[in-house]
Amino acid sequence: MRILAIESSCDETAAAVVEDGVRVLSSVVASQLSTHGKYGGVVPELASREHMRAIVPVVREALERSATGMADLSAIAVTEGPGLVGSLLVGITYAKALCFARGLPLIGVNHIEGHIHAVVMEARQSGEPVEFPALALVVSGGHTHLFEILKGFRYRLLGKTRDDAAGEAFDKVAKLLGFGYPGGPVIDKLAPFGNPNAVRFTLTKMKGNASDFSFSGLKTAVLRWVEARDIDAEIQQRKALFRECETPAVDQWLALTPQTTLDLLASFQKTVITELMRRMESCALEIDAQTIIVSGGVACNEGLRSTARKRPLPARTLFPTPGLSTDNAAMIGAAAFLKFERGEFADFTLAARANLTLA
Ligand code: KG4
Ligand code: ZN
Repeated sequence: MRILAIESSCDETAAAVVEDGVRVLSSVVASQLSTHGKYGGVVPELASREHMRAIVPVVREALERSATGMADLSAIAVTEGPGLVGSLLVGITYAKALCFARGLPLIGVNHIEGHIHAVVMEARQSGEPVEFPALALVVSGGHTHLFEILKGFRYRLLGKTRDDAAGEAFDKVAKLLGFGYPGGPVIDKLAPFGNPNAVRFTLTKMKGNASDFSFSGLKTAVLRWVEARDIDAEIQQRKALFRECETPAVDQWLALTPQTTLDLLASFQKTVITELMRRMESCALEIDAQTIIVSGGVACNEGLRSTARKRPLPARTLFPTPGLSTDNAAMIGAAAFLKFERGEFADFTLAARANLTLA
């Protein structure tokens, strides 16, 4: 049973063919990094235009690579939200048109549920499926959420960010220091060269729900650190490097980054990891989680992965392979399989839902 899945919620146009919810026959991702990089973040209007340019070839490539014809498909799945409304609309409109032309059922998928199912799918592939109740930490440029997952994939929200998402904090700090966009991968690569204990940031204590996150204070603390130092010259040099070369190598960044700034990056990353791990561990204990799922772009972070590997965590902790951590359509196809089995189909009124929640 093959599902063609389409994802266009942010700045990646992606399509995949997934068989029986577990076998990824193809997964194509067209990144828009070169479009948005120079602006230091995603420009929604440009994102929609890029999606329109990419959607047809990306879907065609996903079908070709998996040797799938439209007649081999059982359904078409598409991300309905959350995300940028103009971006979502491109994927949704194209999916609807294909379904209408081919008489195929349409499935709307929540992007956050997709991130969770990237891990669920890989756990099934490995023969050791996710056990319930499970805890999911979805941590990306748009989301920082903790969910309890009950049998049958029912979700309960345990905590979420009250301001910036963790990935957004990485992106904003990187931009401030001249490291371009996206910030997470660069900071992750440079952090091992700095001393993570050099700059002491205060950890946030949340009033009300202690499982909520907040990263805006940390971002402001980094801003204050920068303002208190005379480092504009190095920032300008790095900006110039990023303008010249879209993805500078680690050595190129290192040549323009003094030790004090490397120490700041390492300390910032360590603080984000500490904030994530603390709440993840306490929620896992609270719900007696049998499996912990970490997913979303920030789940690529090597510092986070190695901290999770070294710590005695309360349950088996699963990260997706990096290609399935950041936005992709295979995860949408995996989540759609469950909906297909349940007969949860959408009709042509399916709309883009920018603020769609999971629980
Ligand atoms: O899941 P994703 O592709 O898109 C959203 O749904 O937001 O996540 C993108 C985010 C960006 O903020 C990026 O900086 C962050 O994930 N990211 C990382 C790493 N790789 C990507 N953050 C920290 N460390 C990384 N290695
Ligand atoms: Zn995402």
